[in-house]
Amino acid sequence: MTPLPPLDLKCESLAGPLGVDTPKPRFSWLHVSPERDVRQTGFSILVSSAQELCRKEIGDFWESGQLEGESSFNVEYQGDPLLSCTRYYWRVRWRDKSGVESPWSEIASFVTGFLYEGDWKARWISARNIREFKSRGNVVLGEAGPEHAQAFGIYLRKEFDLREKPAMALAFVSGLGHGELRINGRKVGDHVLDPGWTDYRKKALYSTFDVTGLLQEKNAAGIILGNGRHIKYFGYNAPRVTCRIEIESESGERIVILSDETWKTSHGPLQENGLYFGEKYDARLEMPGWDEPGFNDSGWEKAVFVPGAPLASQLMPPVRVCGKLRPDNVYASAPGVWIFDFGQNFSGWVRMRVQGPAGMEVRLRHAELVHEDGSLNMGPTENAEATDTYILKGGGLETYEPRFTYHGFRYIELNGYPGEPSADTLEARFVHSDVETAGTFSCSNELIDRIHTNVLWGQLSNLMSIPTDCPQRDERHGWLGDAHLSAEEAVFNFDMSGFYAKFLEDIRLAQKEDGSLPDVAPPYLPSLYPADPAWSAAYATLAWLHYEHYEDVKVLARHYPNLRKYVEYLGKNAGGHIIKSLGKYGDWCPPGSVVPKKTPVELTSTWYYYHDVLILSKIARVLGRGDEAKEYSRLAENIRDAFNTAFLGEDQYAAIRVSRIDNYPNQTSNVLPLYLGMVPPAKIGKVLESLLRGVVSQQDGHVDTGILGTRYILDVLTRNGQAETAYRMATQKSYPGWGYMIGEGATTLWERWEKLTGPAMNSQNHIMLGSVDAWFYRTIAGLTLLEPGWKKFQVKPYILGDLTSAEASLKTVRGPVRAAWSKDASSFSLEVLVPVGATARVHMPELYPDGLVMESGKVIWTGSRSGEAVPGITAAGREDRHAVFEVGSGAYRFELKKAG
Ligand code: BGC
Repeated sequence: MTPLPPLDLKCESLAGPLGVDTPKPRFSWLHVSPERDVRQTGFSILVSSAQELCRKEIGDFWESGQLEGESSFNVEYQGDPLLSCTRYYWRVRWRDKSGVESPWSEIASFVTGFLYEGDWKARWISARNIREFKSRGNVVLGEAGPEHAQAFGIYLRKEFDLREKPAMALAFVSGLGHGELRINGRKVGDHVLDPGWTDYRKKALYSTFDVTGLLQEKNAAGIILGNGRHIKYFGYNAPRVTCRIEIESESGERIVILSDETWKTSHGPLQENGLYFGEKYDARLEMPGWDEPGFNDSGWEKAVFVPGAPLASQLMPPVRVCGKLRPDNVYASAPGVWIFDFGQNFSGWVRMRVQGPAGMEVRLRHAELVHEDGSLNMGPTENAEATDTYILKGGGLETYEPRFTYHGFRYIELNGYPGEPSADTLEARFVHSDVETAGTFSCSNELIDRIHTNVLWGQLSNLMSIPTDCPQRDERHGWLGDAHLSAEEAVFNFDMSGFYAKFLEDIRLAQKEDGSLPDVAPPYLPSLYPADPAWSAAYATLAWLHYEHYEDVKVLARHYPNLRKYVEYLGKNAGGHIIKSLGKYGDWCPPGSVVPKKTPVELTSTWYYYHDVLILSKIARVLGRGDEAKEYSRLAENIRDAFNTAFLGEDQYAAIRVSRIDNYPNQTSNVLPLYLGMVPPAKIGKVLESLLRGVVSQQDGHVDTGILGTRYILDVLTRNGQAETAYRMATQKSYPGWGYMIGEGATTLWERWEKLTGPAMNSQNHIMLGSVDAWFYRTIAGLTLLEPGWKKFQVKPYILGDLTSAEASLKTVRGPVRAAWSKDASSFSLEVLVPVGATARVHMPELYPDGLVMESGKVIWTGSRSGEAVPGITAAGREDRHAVFEVGSGAYRFELKKAG
């Protein structure tokens, strides 16, 4: 009996097993097997309070016994009640379909956060005297004047002694807006801009760190607080923190250090800090040793208690410095003004090395562009000053990097630097939510690979604990439209399970009593209710996408009641099922405009009403609520009929008439109903013809869509036999198109299809047009999900244009999926990887008449019918000029050969 191979273990969150704050954590494991057609049929789990017990196979908290079933992820804890702030050990073993049992896995552990009401106990504290400064320029959408106070950085400290060596020490901290915990002179952990953004009135996140190695006999804890989004302008107040350090000594004694009035507070070198305008740091005001024991804090004030926020553990990946960049080029744009070009647009900041006299002020301005003469162009940065200022303390080499701001930039203008800088003066940090890479994609077309790379930079730059619209100007909000339109691409590229679970919570908490949702979540801009339905569609879209990719029913169940409430709200705002009043942005940013010039906003709003109701009916079905599922399907049919009555003409859907040229059909208006199969069968051909006239005759194979139409147009063309047209559109190098942006030097994606560089809405790093990348995965590499959690998927690459190869891989909840094809003049091969417990439908194109398909050295398809049997391939047939094979788990290499 060959033992089954080891497993990859995860508890509750992929962000790390610290701070699990649910009484019923969920366990996941990944099987990797070289064999074919492997399935798990049962498993056993042990959860122990000590590693030793776990090793001896004693689960003093849970011994599941032999459980039946294929589940290998999100298996819920069923043992004795867990305690807060405690480390537990667990392991699992599984059985395959012939009953062979694996050995016990390695031992993994997790640490609980605060599981029960009242366990936290620490209170919120802040400084008695909050020194405020008037920040400049944080004007968003003209809503408030630039005069709104923000606090200086606040420093807090507390000393404590330990009689014994700690066996385990955990620190739990939530510092709003952002907090940096330090122990004995060292920063704790590697999170930055922590915790993630939420609506602090309703929820604040705490982070959990293992600080065992940092403690000694005499200790000092220090915290620096910055403003982040916890500022008056966004409806909150001065920075504050709650913190709990839990220490268990080797003899079992528990010591708890809580944030309270015994902490001392002060101001220090951090003079100003704001997300938009940057940081001002006066190194002359540093307080050496302030975060170490023995510091004289007699001049510091006692901390005061302040109101706080309900807490939850931050189970999503934290924001981190995820990459470093060196400048490609350094030059002077004027005497003493130095420009550093990092060759890439991204989010983050720079670390500066500088040596000079005390009091010298060095300024770092960040921008996405430079003018023709090489000087900095702050146009797209709008009202964000994006300037970090460092005042030298003198006396040697100094290193500075900001901590409570970030910028979207490619270029830095360095001003006031003593002498001539070198390329080593500045090193850039790429900062974003540290989501794990899930997918890879590449193909033989260089332009497509470049678009994919730009999407990756753009997507990551816009994951800052919420999905943001852009990283450079004074917005950086969780605009829901941008979030859902790019979400499918995001889940192909990154593990978004924890990130979107948290963002769905942000949306849920933002819902008003009447069911309405805002355009941005968290709702830092309170006036943005009710949302344009095309934006708030993020709620249903993300919930469903999360379920499809991660098969997490718990998330669906949590949001279902709120989604119902939201859909009811839409219904109340619909007249005869048509939504006339809620639309604001519609098919935003089409070529040549910000506002939709061609697609009626009533059409997009009503379409999203239909879209959301359809999703709701699918969710109801998954949750076993058959009657409600039927009710929503019926409602969807009614909306569809009303939509067709209102917007469908003789052979196309309504367009706004702006000029004579608009006799040509509008792309978005036709694409949307085709995408959801709303067009009456008798008219599908005509509508499609109209769309093609709009694409080919009017736009010569270019997009004429805003962000909504762009999300769906390539799929609609592909599904309707026009994949070559979609390919042409995706690879256009002329305006408007992704290739045009790249030709003009874009290293991310722009907000607008046009090249615009002035002081206006023209971010060079928006992700809302990034959906093209999901089409690359699905169409060019051919990976399409058929059943939730990739239990079943399709591998159907389209061999388009000049393509000769493509490859994509994806880490799914069941394990790795991969498809890679290549072709030459006489053969075509397709490699496929199917994870344990999954099946795939593999489509081999009939590129040659009577081509033979080989696998494992055998002819498995003769050109018209199945051939020899090979392990793992359970069925073969013919469909749409493809030979189609059903396969179980394992690695396969299919080869198509010319007959004879
Ligand atoms: C943002 C967008 C957003 C839009 C709403 C803009 O200012 O940057 O990406 O979706 O407003 O219309």
